Amino acid sequence: MHYYGTSKVNDAGHLEIGGVDTLELVEKFGTPVYVYDVELIRERAKGFKETFDQLGVKAQVAYASKAFSTIAMVQLANEEGLSLDVVSGGELYTAIAADFPVERIHFHGNNKSKEELLMAIDEQIGCIVVDNFYELEMLTQLCEEKNRKMSILLRVTPGIEAHTHDYILTGQEDSKFGFDLQNGQAEKALLEAIKSPFIEVLGLHCHIGSQIFDTTGFVLAAQKIMAHLSEWKANHHFESKVLNLGGGFGIRYTEEDQPIQPAEYVEVIIKEVKEQVNNLEMQMPEIWIEPGRSLVGDAGTTLYKIGSRKEVPNVRKYLAIDGGMSDNIRPALYQAKYEAVLANKPLQAPDETVSIAGKCCESGDMLIWDLPLPKAGDHDVLAVFCTGAYGYSMANNYNRIPRPPVVFVENGEARVVVKRESFEDLLRLDLPLKETASLKK
Ligand SMILES: Cc1ncc(COP(=O)(O)O)c(C=O)c1O
Repeated sequence: MHYYGTSKVNDAGHLEIGGVDTLELVEKFGTPVYVYDVELIRERAKGFKETFDQLGVKAQVAYASKAFSTIAMVQLANEEGLSLDVVSGGELYTAIAADFPVERIHFHGNNKSKEELLMAIDEQIGCIVVDNFYELEMLTQLCEEKNRKMSILLRVTPGIEAHTHDYILTGQEDSKFGFDLQNGQAEKALLEAIKSPFIEVLGLHCHIGSQIFDTTGFVLAAQKIMAHLSEWKANHHFESKVLNLGGGFGIRYTEEDQPIQPAEYVEVIIKEVKEQVNNLEMQMPEIWIEPGRSLVGDAGTTLYKIGSRKEVPNVRKYLAIDGGMSDNIRPALYQAKYEAVLANKPLQAPDETVSIAGKCCESGDMLIWDLPLPKAGDHDVLAVFCTGAYGYSMANNYNRIPRPPVVFVENGEARVVVKRESFEDLLRLDLPLKETASLKK
């Protein structure tokens, strides 16, 4: 079994994370519970940041908070000197509530509302990543009305799409995001934007995909963008101060995944941009990246109690846990795969192959198929690794299941950073059918 960060088997023979026995966590906080290895998040952040520093390149490493946005996580990102990528008023609100330095907040999204743009302008955040002409026009008008300047990046689609190991090179990219580079939309957007004295175009942004395991896609994207920037310099005297190559750096979920180190991505990206800058006689832009999953993904482990068992003779053994697609929708949404152990006996050899079922009323609510495990029952705790990204952030109340708490562990200490939702929380926004009817509590 692969153990991540500070996770290990302790002297009691239990899974331990951040110096805390996971069985103690279960005892204290119940199940399901999301546990985050804070030291590992810090290590991942340093892996990206220090490489830029060592190579003397001006950079911003922005944590893509969509992966896991809570006040404590945003504060941790700040402690590690990261910038922050938000994609909605809610994520921006969280960042502001966490006292994150506004000048390091970047606001994404393909359909930002007027209210969201106003919030960004009023809070004077670092920059808005403008996605389309509708937004550009609305933002320009709002800045004029408010007499406020705003820095922007233009999100472009460079015609490269990366999915794990596959790269699709397309002439005109079919994507809901961004201005197309190839068909001239991006250049048109630039010319529109630089007309306004209220808008400062810092540069370009692209995000080519997720769970990417090599550097080819980033190199191709940098080449394409730099070639266009060189033309824009010649034709419009525009020099990009910033080149943002997005996130998407892959992590290990199972043995099928072989990620490379954060430093490797950064080194290759820097080398390529420097080469392009020299060849095209341009100024070196600041390089920004936006890792989400690779900062928090393998730092998260979800602990569940095992409940019912169903055996279909000669077909399959189902073991059900006390959570499922309500706390981790990734397997149901895109067949994501995970590894798991019994936290109370991780070293015990497997006796059988079981499939882990969630408790939601959906046949598709299966967390792991064909997992080798020691014989397990309702006294056992299942620890599912690598649930730190897009787990809590995509959690939902399907079947009115309350969302689990989030616990940060570090140096032998455990701290709740999101409380467990209660049944009362589930009803908080409900109103009775008629004003006179009362809610039974
Ligand atoms: C614009 C942008 N930046 C960054 C990310 C983070 O990607 P990941 O979590 O794969 O690093 C995403 C993910 O969807 C994204 O859309």
